[in-house]
Order: sequence, then structure tokens, then C-alpha cells
Amino acid sequence: MDILFQSFRSEIPVMITVALVIVTAATTAFSIFVFYERRHLNSPPAIPGLPLLGNLLQLKERKPYLTFAKWAEVYGPMYSIRLGSTSMVVLNSTEIAKEALVTKFSSISTRKLSNALTTITSNKALVSTCDYGEYHKMVKKYIISGVLGANAQKRNLHHRDAMIENVVSKLFAKINDEEYSLVELREPFQSELFQLALKQSLGNDVDSIYVEELGQTILKKEMIKILVLDPLIAVIEVDWRDFFPYLRWIPNKSMEMKIQRTAIRKTAVTKALINQQRERIGRGEKISCYLDYLLSEETTLTKDQVIALIWEAIVESSDTTMVVTEWAMYEIAKNPTKQDHLYQEIQKVCGMKKITEEHLPYLQYLNAAFHETLRLHPPITINLYACNMDKKDWDEPEKWKPERFLSDKYEQMDMHKTMAFGGGKRVCAGSLQAMLISCRTIGRLIQEFEWKLKDGEEDNIDTFGLTTHKLHPMQAHIRPRGSCGLV
Ligand code: HEM
Repeated sequence: MDILFQSFRSEIPVMITVALVIVTAATTAFSIFVFYERRHLNSPPAIPGLPLLGNLLQLKERKPYLTFAKWAEVYGPMYSIRLGSTSMVVLNSTEIAKEALVTKFSSISTRKLSNALTTITSNKALVSTCDYGEYHKMVKKYIISGVLGANAQKRNLHHRDAMIENVVSKLFAKINDEEYSLVELREPFQSELFQLALKQSLGNDVDSIYVEELGQTILKKEMIKILVLDPLIAVIEVDWRDFFPYLRWIPNKSMEMKIQRTAIRKTAVTKALINQQRERIGRGEKISCYLDYLLSEETTLTKDQVIALIWEAIVESSDTTMVVTEWAMYEIAKNPTKQDHLYQEIQKVCGMKKITEEHLPYLQYLNAAFHETLRLHPPITINLYACNMDKKDWDEPEKWKPERFLSDKYEQMDMHKTMAFGGGKRVCAGSLQAMLISCRTIGRLIQEFEWKLKDGEEDNIDTFGLTTHKLHPMQAHIRPRGSCGLV
């Protein structure tokens, strides 16, 4: 039986898609927590469903996490559901979820992947999709030492400095003669994050690359599509055979070909990027980056594993941080009083200096804004809905209120109660990077500009994709604060 740490936010119209997301998304770093467990005598109550289909039809509404929460009221915080022939346990309370992730970890260590995820993630070669065991321990150590841990992040500080200043410059370039100028944050931020991901993973930014296997030169914009956007959409593709593994012998050719094509293209581009850097290394030019680190460890890794791990670092760096930062800016632009509070705090702590990472520990309200955004809009396709909307734990849970973390009722550690970064041995490896980039970007954007949501944007909160992208990029009006004297 699988355990589904109840959570799910994307609003996908078709019932079967919804249900598949539960199965597929469950097993990645960008996913719900689904774990394999033997059936115990004291199994949790099962939600009654139909023969063969189980509870598939009951999850047909656009917001299935609401159904989960409704069932929790009747069946308690832990129950099981059946999607076709796949059973899952749904956990609806932070306490139980924590116990599953941390204390009972040994029983939930395997990753059960959908067909699409297996293909896209090179058959469990990623840190986030492999089963817990020797390989997981090894590659998690590699990604932490090579790119995401505190020391590696220190080495990459100059890349983060450059990316954040580039985002600010790109927004300044949009300022026109009007008092306020209309901007979208997503495009400039996403392309800068992608560049950062390339620099950290490969040692260099790359504007274009000839990909022999595809017989064409790929430009940066197309690279983002092939490496990040297409795979994230492909893994939520519906293959009904995921619910009925005993029918796997029935071909589903169009779906298989679509997924294969996405996987082949992203592997071909990653391989070409790596080969280009191998030539650099061959010339004796070493750079401190993830690829050079992995190649020095290559005795333990196959070439395919190196390709998969480099792709993982690129895709994970490029997406979730963008998602949480865009949602944070949406909330800030929507709440002028809270924006002012943030600005005052930044002024007090940073004075005439541009905000740096050293300022971050002193910017409590900014920190709280980041964690409050993770609570209300967790970027992973988990909704943590019942946990993060529990009125017993959170005052007015539906409201974005960073100050909740600063009142006497909460302690510093409560910020992690949202469990947005998971927990236990599979806890997110990139939380430090996400926090450093997101908090400083938010800080710089507030330092330089006053933000106002475009009229009608308040209700524009639909999401899509494996991570909870805002369906429509946030549109806001910005006005420079005239802080050009900042040093
Ligand atoms: C706000 C941003 C982020 C959020 C909310 C987030 C959330 C998560 C969650 C919930 C998990 C656990 C999934 C599970 O148990 O299956 C996870 C795992 C992981 N995350 Fe993140 N993540 C973020 C950013 C990043 C970044 C920037 C990177 C890397 C560049 C990253 C790399 C990973 C990896 C490698 C794992 C797998 C860890 C393991 O299985 O041991 N994450 N993340």
C-alpha cells in the first residue's frame, strides 16, 4: 500500500488526470509523498469506492485536496484510498505526516514511479526519485557537496549576486514615462535562474549549443523549454495504465511516444552541454562546479547517471524557486501595508546598502514572508492542504500573514511546520539555495520598486503543472523608489 502524504494543489480539470498526478507526482522532489508499505492488521479505514475503479470517480473535481479534507472530517486524519489497483494512505495532519517522514522512515523509503516519471527521470537515477539505499546516500552526498550544501553555496555567491542584479536591471529596462510601469516578473527571473543553474551545474552559461543527436543548434530560450518546461509538463501526462498495472500489455503508443520524445530531447541537450564542458576539462581548465565534481567521482557513476544528475540540478534550480518567489511578490504587491512593513525593515537593517545574504538573518519579517508564502502556496504539487489550513494550528489559515510567525504564539522553528521542504532523510537538498535566492530577490525588488498588482490580478490564482506555477504570470505595476544611491 502506498502512503500519500495528503497534498495536492494543481487544478487539473479531468478526473483521471487528477488521480494520476497523485500517483506520478508522488515520487519526485517536486511531488507528493507517496510511500510503499506492507498492509498491516491495523490498516487505516478505507474510503468506500467502486469495484475496479476504487475512488477514481470521487476525485474528479478540480480541487481534489478539498475532497481529501472532507474525508478527513469523516474518517479521521489517516485513511486509505484506491485508484484503480493502487492503494494509498492519505495523511491529513502535520503530526502524522512528520511521524511518517521521520520516525517511520524505513517503511516508506521506496519511490513508486509512474510510467512517465520513470522515463523522464532515467529510471530512478535522480537523487529525488531513487529508492533510499546506498545509491541515494551517495548521490545525495554528491549534490550537497558539489552544489547545494553550505560550502558549495558560498563558492557560488558571485553567481547569485550577478543573477539578482540582472533581474533588477531587466525590470529597470521596462520602466517607461508613466508613473507606474506594467511588468511581469516571471520571464526575466526564470531566464536568470536558468543561467545560474547552468553556471552552477556546468561551470559556464551557454547561449546556444549544437546538438548532434537532434541535428540542430539550440538557442537558450529553446534550451529552457527542452530541459525545464517540457519535462515538467510531460510528467503529469496521463497514462491510465498507471492505475491498472495488470493492463500494461495494452499499448498506449501516442502517450509513450510523447514522453519518449521529451526524454530523448532533454537527454540529448544535457549530453551536448556536458560534452562541451568535457572539452574544457580536457584543456586542463577546471572550474568549481557540479559537473567537475561529479566527473572527479565518475568511477562510481555511469555516463548516463552523470547526465541524469546534471539535468536534475538544472531543472530543480530553475523551477521551484521561481514559483515561490512569484507567489511571494503576488502577495506583497496585493498587500500595501505588509509591503511597507517589509520596506521599513529592509531600510532599518540595510540602510544605504543593497541587501546581501549577510543581512538575511536580521530580516525577520522578510524571512516570515518567505515561509508564509510556502505555507499558503507550497511550490511542490503537494497541497499540504489539511496540514497548512488546519485552524487548530493556524489563525485565519486562508490569509497571507507573515506576522503570524513573529507573534509570541510561534517560535522560529514553527516556520518549518509547513513542511514545504519535506522532512526526514528525503528532506529537500536545495532549501538553502531556494531561501538565499528567493529572500534576497524579494528584498532587492522591494528595495528598488514599489509594487502594485494590476487590476483584476487578485483573483488570478489558478495553478498548473507539476510544481504549482501560477497559471498566468503575475502582472504588476512598479514604480522606482529612487534608491539609486544604494551601494
Ligand atoms: C522553494 C523551493 C523548494 C521547495 C518547496 C522544495 C521542496 C521539496 C520537497 C517537498 C522535497 C521532498 C520530496 C519527497 O520527499 O519526495 C524536496 C526534495 C528535493 N529537493 Fe527540493 N524544494 C525546493 C527547491 C529545491 C532546489 C532549488 C533544489 C536544487 C537545486 C532542490 C533539490 C531537491 C532534491 C535533490 C530533493 C531530493 C532529496 C532526497 O530525496 O533525498 N529543491 N524538495
